[in-house]
Amino acid sequence: MTLPIRHFRSLLDCSADELNYLVERGITLKAWRNAGKTHQPLVGKVMTMIFEKSSTRTRISFEAGMAQLGGHAIFISPEASQLSRGEPLEDTAKVVSRMTDIVMIRTYGQDIVERFAEHSKVPVINGLTNLHHPCQVLADIMTFVEQRGSIAGKTVLWLGDGYNMCHSFMHAAKQFGFHLRVCTPEGYEPDAKTQQECAGSFSLHREPLAAAEGVDLVVTDVWTSMGCEHETTERNEKFRPYQVNHAVMAKAASDALFMHCLPAHRGEEVSAEVIDGEQSVVWEEAENRLHAQKALIEFLLLGKQA
Ligand code: CP
Ligand code: NVA
Repeated sequence: MTLPIRHFRSLLDCSADELNYLVERGITLKAWRNAGKTHQPLVGKVMTMIFEKSSTRTRISFEAGMAQLGGHAIFISPEASQLSRGEPLEDTAKVVSRMTDIVMIRTYGQDIVERFAEHSKVPVINGLTNLHHPCQVLADIMTFVEQRGSIAGKTVLWLGDGYNMCHSFMHAAKQFGFHLRVCTPEGYEPDAKTQQECAGSFSLHREPLAAAEGVDLVVTDVWTSMGCEHETTERNEKFRPYQVNHAVMAKAASDALFMHCLPAHRGEEVSAEVIDGEQSVVWEEAENRLHAQKALIEFLLLGKQA
């Protein structure tokens, strides 16, 4: 049976039921791996991974994940391919999707992922754009569920830049049924279209300590994302009052968790005492990229597993 092509350009490409399935399946695949069980439904399947930005976690988790599922992954970058020599993205998508079974792309504009998907005969996964980072947030929700049970009905604080990670958390709030407080400096509020898509699932805040009151989870990200390096000095100044530190965590619920997609800058967006403290689950989050993405790849290529 041939499955219709499904892409994962953002968390809105799956239904809420499917996302909950992926979280549960990620937990199952993690348990199997920890028990030493081999699960190789993708023997002979190949993923192309296109990286236009740097990566540690995303590359390793996708490459290791494909190998563990019995398949293989190929890394390409603009410099190491014809992309930097002017071959159109559309042509690349057509060629890559005739030779390999699934594509992961990390790039700048969300439109690049959209255009690639339009011309691809195989599923395309967004491995981070300026607008979204859905794979990371899928792993983050899996991490919350493992630690605390369902996230539905909970309150989450996003403290920092209203950028890709924040946008995917807004999608997650809508899809998983929690409320997201988005607390940013002026001028760094989330994208208008994402605000429309998620109306009713989030609120905008300016005052970190007030926004942190009673929340179940505190999440942050770097102040200067990849591609914004020329703004670093200005950002360091504007974001200084938006650090996740002991004072912020003290306002949150006593069993609140702290998350960060990594890489982190201790002393900037998060204090060392918080990221290295007991409420932090950043290493689980990082590991769960592997398990959640294996569930995603399996779902896109084989459909839901019984
Ligand atoms: N969190 C994350 O996506 O990390 P990398 O940039 O290392 O892939
Ligand atoms: N917002 C960060 C996330 C890195 C994983 C960036 O885009 O650089």
